[in-house]
Amino acid sequence: MEYIENIMQNRYSCREYKTKKIDDEVIKEIINLTRLTPSSLALEPWKFVVISKNLDKLGEICYNQSQVSNCSHAVVIMARTDLKSTDEYIMNIAKTRLRGRDKFLSMIASKADKKSKDELEGYASLQCYMALANLVNIAYSKGVKSCIIGGFDKEKLTKFLNLGDHLSPCIVVSLGLSDKESPKKIRKSLEDVLIWK
Ligand SMILES: Cc1cc2nc3c(=O)[nH]c(=O)nc-3n(C[C@H](O)[C@H](O)[C@H](O)COP(=O)(O)O)c2cc1C
Repeated sequence: MEYIENIMQNRYSCREYKTKKIDDEVIKEIINLTRLTPSSLALEPWKFVVISKNLDKLGEICYNQSQVSNCSHAVVIMARTDLKSTDEYIMNIAKTRLRGRDKFLSMIASKADKKSKDELEGYASLQCYMALANLVNIAYSKGVKSCIIGGFDKEKLTKFLNLGDHLSPCIVVSLGLSDKESPKKIRKSLEDVLIWK
């Protein structure tokens, strides 16, 4: 089977992991590839927080989901909420643009400067979800099983991570090892989802 086809057919949400830990280097490789994800205006408005200790506490924050407390590592994808043309973060990105720096900054000004913090978070979160899809597929390609976790107490998670208010938790992914066979995919048919005009 083609490489990507194999991943799409067989990646699944794993909810029971072995106790064996994943090598930290493998986690780094997964994040290193995930960071190549495309993003609107190439802003890369994310941070990846890897948690390998205190997973019991994280599991509790994720409404006691055992696939979090029993995982090897969890990744919290954080959405940036400081997308303003005057922010240091944007200025640093602008510096890397040899051409079109002024145009870039005026684009950010027109896109971001009038948005509320919630709107900025929503905009950044869309990009984080793209990274999320890549992350779980990359992990699978490296023999690492995963479960996407959208069920968490955002306030408690923000407090637990304590990274400042320019970053907001978007989604959690638990990662671990398992020998379990991929279950049969249950999905709508192509006819159900395809509209061809
Ligand atoms: C945004 C999002 C949030 C999710 N949150 C949870 C969650 O909190 N707990 C969980 O066990 N699975 C969660 N899932 C996994 C879905 O239940 C799962 O992807 C879906 O049932 C399809 O199954 P599959 O991933 O095995 O193909 C989430 C998936 C997505 C995309």
